Amino acid sequence: MTRTPVTVTVTGAAGQIGYALLFRIASGQLLGADVPVKLRLLEIPQGLKAAEGTAMELDDCAFPLLQGIDISDDPNVGFDGANVALLVGARPRTKGMERGDLLEANGGIFKPQGKAINDHAADDIKILVVGNPANTNALIAQAAAPDVPAERFTAMTRLDHNRALSQLAKKTGAPVGEIKKLTIWGNHSATQYPDVFHAEVAGKNAAEVVSDEQWLADTFIPTVAKRGAAIIEARGASSAASAANAAIDHVHTWVNGTDADDWTSAGVVSDGSYGVPEGLISSFPVTAKSGKFEIVQGLDINEFSRTRIDASVKELEDEREAVRSLGLI
Ligand code: NAD
Ligand code: LMR
Repeated sequence: MTRTPVTVTVTGAAGQIGYALLFRIASGQLLGADVPVKLRLLEIPQGLKAAEGTAMELDDCAFPLLQGIDISDDPNVGFDGANVALLVGARPRTKGMERGDLLEANGGIFKPQGKAINDHAADDIKILVVGNPANTNALIAQAAAPDVPAERFTAMTRLDHNRALSQLAKKTGAPVGEIKKLTIWGNHSATQYPDVFHAEVAGKNAAEVVSDEQWLADTFIPTVAKRGAAIIEARGASSAASAANAAIDHVHTWVNGTDADDWTSAGVVSDGSYGVPEGLISSFPVTAKSGKFEIVQGLDINEFSRTRIDASVKELEDEREAVRSLGLI
């Protein structure tokens, strides 16, 4: 093995997403089957013992690509030299709890982590925030890392994207692989807007194939937007394996690029496109090329979509105001 290993830091490594994620990273699914990795597991002191157990299991898999595992409860150590950082550790929403309630509790986690990334990560660091409220946590971390290009901080809406793909496949009977150009706009929350108006099902416009605006408004959009809550209700715990899968997809796409005839969804720093205020970390249709996400430009936004995008973006602005007033950005 001659390639230099890529250092991947996972926070909340002892949690349920961490457990579903680490083995896939170590097996090569995050970066590629020929890319050696070093894992850094970052936890709080109470999580260290469980992280050690997970590290023992990782050892026991004898993954050929895995070139080392370090465990720490110090962000300055955990992010030292990191090329990829998956910020998963946070307090998950429990039954009956609104995500907005989590802002204050989680804000305190992401500010010091952003600073540690700023001071210690590798120059090419790519950051994906999974821990909720993901968009605003990403904003907090980014604000604490002025030396890192802002676009390296992203928030995960790939799970929402995958959920939307699956629901649309079920409705149309088309295989998931034949559905392209779906978009999740806005916040990773119940206000998010899954948009099929530019999507294609086997080469045909998805909205025309579905041809049922009532289904879009009353079934598709709420099913996708409230899926996280439905899983919490059913499992008594938030989604874990599907969230880990989406994190793998997000970083894999970021590093390896999107297909020429498709795009994906990611929470990225707004440049003001589509009326989303500059600086907010909002979900957009994005392509990825040469390790960079770019917002797809020039899409016509109809009235149905405009209202829904605006509502989700308004929620993001409110969250930004809330963390501003808490002194977190
Ligand atoms: P979990 O409670 O099982 O694990 C969280 C882990 O984070 C725990 O082991 C905890 O000790 C650790 N942790 C807490 N604070 C930390 C810190 N400051 N540094 C390092 N580690 C820390 O939770 P989970 O089910 O793995 O979910 C993690 C987060 O992901 C939650 O916020 C959840 O809401 C979110 N989530 C996001 C999406 C998405 O699509 N964006 C999907 C599912 C879950
Ligand atoms: C999900 O979309 O499954 C999670 O973000 C739900 C949650 O609030 O943890």
